[in-house]
Amino acid sequence: MDQQSEATNIKWHHHHITKNERATQKRQRPCILWFTGLSGSGKSTIAGALEQKLFELGHHTYLLDGDNVRHGLNKDLGFSDSDRVENIRRIGEMSKLFADAGLIVLSAFISPFRSDRRMVRDLVEDGEFVEIHMSTPLSVCEQRDPKGLYKKARQGEIKNFTGIDSVYEAPESPEITLNTAECDVEACANTVIAYLKQQNIIRD
Ligand code: ADX
Repeated sequence: MDQQSEATNIKWHHHHITKNERATQKRQRPCILWFTGLSGSGKSTIAGALEQKLFELGHHTYLLDGDNVRHGLNKDLGFSDSDRVENIRRIGEMSKLFADAGLIVLSAFISPFRSDRRMVRDLVEDGEFVEIHMSTPLSVCEQRDPKGLYKKARQGEIKNFTGIDSVYEAPESPEITLNTAECDVEACANTVIAYLKQQNIIRD
């Protein structure tokens, strides 16, 4: 409904069960926890640890992860600027659908462009988009190099690698900032849990 569709003769259907009813059944408020940061900054690790904690607290979650989504839904996309924009557009719409299902969605994507993250924020209601900036410095990410991709990028074997020859635009006012060079996994996950309680997204 928010975006102009290419198709004609289509009409939005309002179904009986609402997002709020689905979320209330799960004793939570739906939201999108949007992890953004460089490759190796800890997005997937922290999102995974956080999802485990939320699950143990009885919450209903879903974790969307860059590498995984690129194996399926987005396997037709590469890493040019325009493909990254389309990657985030699709994931944004998918995250919105999962939030509409009443879930706490954890989305872990480099999502290097501010305008794309803003687009996803604008897809959902106020307070439903929680931007979590993984501010781990490039030098630390490169030293970790868990997949050996920075090394390949430095050697010119991979083009358009974020932080090397493709831009990363850091968030200007994220809801949460986590630096995994200074804060361990447990502490980072607990910071997000505390925020969710403070915002009444989950209950104490
Ligand atoms: S995004 O920029 O479009 O948001 P996404 O999070 O889906 O990226 O995918 C990033 C993952 O793809 C990285 O963690 C890394 O494993 C892999 N990758 C492969 N090539 C590149 C590249 N050129 N730039 C960044 N990540 C890459």
